[in-house]
Amino acid sequence: MRSGGDASPLSALDVTATEFLRNLTRLGLVNLLRAYGTSGLRKDAIARDRATLCPDLSEAVDLLCLSQPVPEAAAVAVLTEPMLEHMVDIGVAATGDETVQLPGIRLVDHLGSILFVAASQNNGYGYYGRDSIGLGRQLLGAGGRCLDLCCSTGCQTAVLAATAESVVSVEIDASLAPLFELNMCLNGVRSRVEPRWSDVREVEFDEPFDVVAVNAPMMPTFGVFDLPWLVDGGVDGAGLLKGILGRVPLAANGRLMATSMIPGNAAELQIDWLRGLAADRGWSVTVMPTDHEPLNADSAFVKASMVRLLGAPTDTAEVPDELLDAWAKAAIDRLYFSLIHITADCDDSTFRIVSTELQGERYSL
Ligand SMILES: C[S@@+](CC[C@H](N)C(=O)[O-])C[C@H]1O[C@@H](n2cnc3c(N)ncnc32)[C@H](O)[C@@H]1O
Repeated sequence: MRSGGDASPLSALDVTATEFLRNLTRLGLVNLLRAYGTSGLRKDAIARDRATLCPDLSEAVDLLCLSQPVPEAAAVAVLTEPMLEHMVDIGVAATGDETVQLPGIRLVDHLGSILFVAASQNNGYGYYGRDSIGLGRQLLGAGGRCLDLCCSTGCQTAVLAATAESVVSVEIDASLAPLFELNMCLNGVRSRVEPRWSDVREVEFDEPFDVVAVNAPMMPTFGVFDLPWLVDGGVDGAGLLKGILGRVPLAANGRLMATSMIPGNAAELQIDWLRGLAADRGWSVTVMPTDHEPLNADSAFVKASMVRLLGAPTDTAEVPDELLDAWAKAAIDRLYFSLIHITADCDDSTFRIVSTELQGERYSL
């Protein structure tokens, strides 16, 4: 959150964001978000307990956390006039019938940073999920020159910038820029952040980085699905990650943390491509599988993904035969949700997979 530690002059947006944050703190919403946490499941808890909150706080929760319309006066009371105007201008607030709604976004506490991300269950504009929280935890306390690839509305950028000297943030979807800017101002870190609205496969880096975060689209297609680009991770789920690892300059002892979905079976994760790259580059790599979903004819995960991502009808979604054949040929029966940690230029290059015996919740949240 805003530390007030930056010496650079405040922009109009900085001032507006500060006033908004003051209201959030006064209302108790900042503490409420921290108490509840921010994952999809926790959102249900806020929705359940909303009725027990005092009226001004419950209206703020409706507007900012649950994407519900509230009376305009209530919206102004928490947002302030300038902030509401700004949010209408950048297209994230809708007004009408003397009400205000933020239909596609919600406010979360992301490991100490207060920021706007996509509304729950939204895989498009401003995606934020459990993987975001799992990755963010790996970035706490980062120092030096940092890089946030596929930054979206900047949740990982804010975590990095809280302690680092500087952060370069790369995102292909420039329509996210206004929300990214607002989030940086809300957290008082704008002057340490350099956003680049481009494709990570094309952007040029002139100096190496000490800490790199990557949360790229990672859903594997197995050569069968034509997934939307926002989630398409290529045949094995690592399409964009491979491209990124091939070109990001890591400083000596620099660290890169990435999220990944890795196909495999009970005995192994199919990640030889990374093993080879690590040996070539002298990297030490730790792969941390944190959960898995079975891939078979009954796979609820695949069926739900087909409904959500491909618009398959809810009642008839079936795992296609082509997919079952592809899995059988490649000896794949599960998908491991994983975090990957890479350290560059170590004295002893190692490749570790910490465990394939998984218990507990995804990303241990
Ligand atoms: C899973 S979201 C990550 C959001 C955030 N960094 C986090 O950890 O929650 C992936 C983001 O990657 C962006 N993206 C996809 N392909 C990209 C590319 N080729 N270059 C840059 N960004 C890309 C998407 O627009 C999306 O915002």
